[in-house]
Amino acid sequence: MRDTATVPVAHAPVPLIDLKAQRSRIGAQIEAAIKRVLDHGAYIMGPEVLEAEKRLGALSGAQHVISCSNGTTAMVMALMAWDISRGDAVFVPSFTFTATAEVAPIVGATPVFVDVLPDTFNMDPDSLERAIAVAEQTGLKPRVVIPVDLFGQPADHDAIRSVADKHGLLILDDAAQSFGARYKTKKLGAIADITTTSFYPSKPLGCYGDGGAVFTNNEDWARKLTEVRVHGQGRDRNENMRIGLTGRFDSIQAAVLLEKLAIFEEECEARQTIADRYNAGLAGAVTTPHVRPDCTSVWAQYTISSPRRDKIVAALTAKNISTALFYARPIHTQTPYRGFPVAAGGLPVTERLAQEVVSLPMHPYLAADVQDEIIAAVRAAAL
Ligand SMILES: Cc1ncc(COP(=O)(O)O)c(C=O)c1O
Repeated sequence: MRDTATVPVAHAPVPLIDLKAQRSRIGAQIEAAIKRVLDHGAYIMGPEVLEAEKRLGALSGAQHVISCSNGTTAMVMALMAWDISRGDAVFVPSFTFTATAEVAPIVGATPVFVDVLPDTFNMDPDSLERAIAVAEQTGLKPRVVIPVDLFGQPADHDAIRSVADKHGLLILDDAAQSFGARYKTKKLGAIADITTTSFYPSKPLGCYGDGGAVFTNNEDWARKLTEVRVHGQGRDRNENMRIGLTGRFDSIQAAVLLEKLAIFEEECEARQTIADRYNAGLAGAVTTPHVRPDCTSVWAQYTISSPRRDKIVAALTAKNISTALFYARPIHTQTPYRGFPVAAGGLPVTERLAQEVVSLPMHPYLAADVQDEIIAAVRAAAL
């Protein structure tokens, strides 16, 4: 076999996510939309923000959408609206982006780490049970579970709901990577008590800066979330109802989002076609992602696993093809989180995945010939 490191690279670097390709398609519309905001001058809570909330509600089926400044603040807002604080346990996976766990200590609560399932990489309901038992033994009050819909695919919401109901937990769903995905008959946003998402530029639905949204069907929580978003302000600007923050989405980002929403469903279909091509090409060489038959994924990431992960990364790097290790360092092993409890029995799946996963380039504009080159390189390194 040839040494991949000596093969000349014949193409430009292949990024994990190519936002420039999308911009060459709708750049003119986005620039016109931004100009409209500059012309009307309502930079904060302008008409684009209200329109984006309306469209996000229609797409998700959620009755209330509260747009906000990013996906982390979205979760903080939810915990604040529920008055989660010191002594409360918030159950989170460790195999996720840091923000999921970070929001618990931000409000003074304790994150308790839960393992994930080996096939979907989403929260394991049995491990959640074991984590609740640990929290109770430690004297914490089990209050909230944050199941993440990782890499674009919904968690098993029915299974999480039955554990949550048994223990009186609220469900805050972190759908930062998966807005647009369906679980059984419903879209994310209309399932959990409160759902949040992120419009960070590289997300399947992103803007050109930071942005996020909170979704709920509960009117009382929606009102509290709206208050938290602007310093706890009530209907009367001079009256503060609760402790809040500056959490608003801005009009320029909403204008960008509206243009991207116009092509979002088409882009999700293109992502599915690319995932199908990877699945077919990589079968038998590595473990390809498993999407439950009653769910759809919006493919924020295409993440494979293999004991030969490091060889795969080296082979792709030699060909100027980007990869990412989501997530090579589980959160419970990181310095600020080491003192927090984990589910009884530990997190063996999380720890194995951290050694074996690698995410490949995934975006709606990935050319078939480039994809075939990625597939060939992965197969050669993995077998
Ligand atoms: C799973 C998950 N949760 C939360 C966030 C936080 O979103 P934001 O960067 O908009 O604060 C991210 C963003 O990468 C994420 O991937």
